[in-house]
Amino acid sequence: MPAILASAPGKVILFGEHAVVYGRPAIAVPVTQVQVKASIMADPLGPPGRVHIQAPDIQLERDLAELPLDDPIALAVQGVMHALVIGHLPALKLRISSTIPVAAGLGSGAAVSVAILRALSAFLGHPLPDEIVSALAFEVEKKHHATPSGIDNTVVTYARPIFFTRGQPFEILPPAETITLIIADSGIKSPTHLAVAAVKEAWQADPHHFDALFDDIGQVSQQARQLITEGPVRELGPLMTENHHILQQVGVSSAELDFLVDAALQAGAAGAKLSGGGRGGNMIALATLENAEKISTALTDAGATRVIISRVNPITRDQK
Ligand code: PMV
Repeated sequence: MPAILASAPGKVILFGEHAVVYGRPAIAVPVTQVQVKASIMADPLGPPGRVHIQAPDIQLERDLAELPLDDPIALAVQGVMHALVIGHLPALKLRISSTIPVAAGLGSGAAVSVAILRALSAFLGHPLPDEIVSALAFEVEKKHHATPSGIDNTVVTYARPIFFTRGQPFEILPPAETITLIIADSGIKSPTHLAVAAVKEAWQADPHHFDALFDDIGQVSQQARQLITEGPVRELGPLMTENHHILQQVGVSSAELDFLVDAALQAGAAGAKLSGGGRGGNMIALATLENAEKISTALTDAGATRVIISRVNPITRDQK
């Protein structure tokens, strides 16, 4: 039996991070330049039930049974078994490779789950529909972040720009024009759950003030939604910069992120902001086909440790 392959892209949050945890809308887009691939094949020599895992990017080579119960890979495998009501697996080899940097707000955790869920369910002859894949990936996310909003698993599963409000059906946003983004890593590792916990503490101390900031962010997401689907896309720039300024007040920016945002704006970006949990991790800048290289170079010169140029293309008729 040949190997079954599945993949899932990275993602960035374009608008609305943190506010989305408090019920305001957010917008996320896939980053298809980076991805996770999972491949599954039968292991004719292995004893039934043995799942041998190879994930060279995280130096992991082990049997599933040796992983901690709350390991995300183990949780994804169990999610498939549960969804398909399967008690035992045949002997399998599961290989996972990824070009998505970890702990950088690019959705690597959700992409690993989605790729495994798809590959394993297809291998077992019952490929799970996107809705179930997203829901199962959300269950894995919940074990690792205190209160994930669900935006990561949704955008990574559907690999389309989405307008997302917690607890409500999401909407796919077909872009009117290509959106060119420069994604730059500040080089500072910043686990999302710590930033989310810090915001929660601040919100509990002064809910009135923070709810007003989240309302402002929600308004920005609403305005952006229309610009994405109707254009002109360059007008997203000032909204991104405005969103960044509100996130500074929320307390999740940092000197390094602010420096990169300024560098992008000076190099001609139409707008720039931190993206994801903040306090480190990535920032994004809105570029055009013409100035993407210039902004990318300016961000490297300003100290970014990795820069990705990403394009979100309009959805063609047969993709709708
Ligand atoms: O750090 P990221 O890109 O995984 O995004 C976190 C986004 C938050 O709004 C801060 C948290 C969430 O679960 O939505």
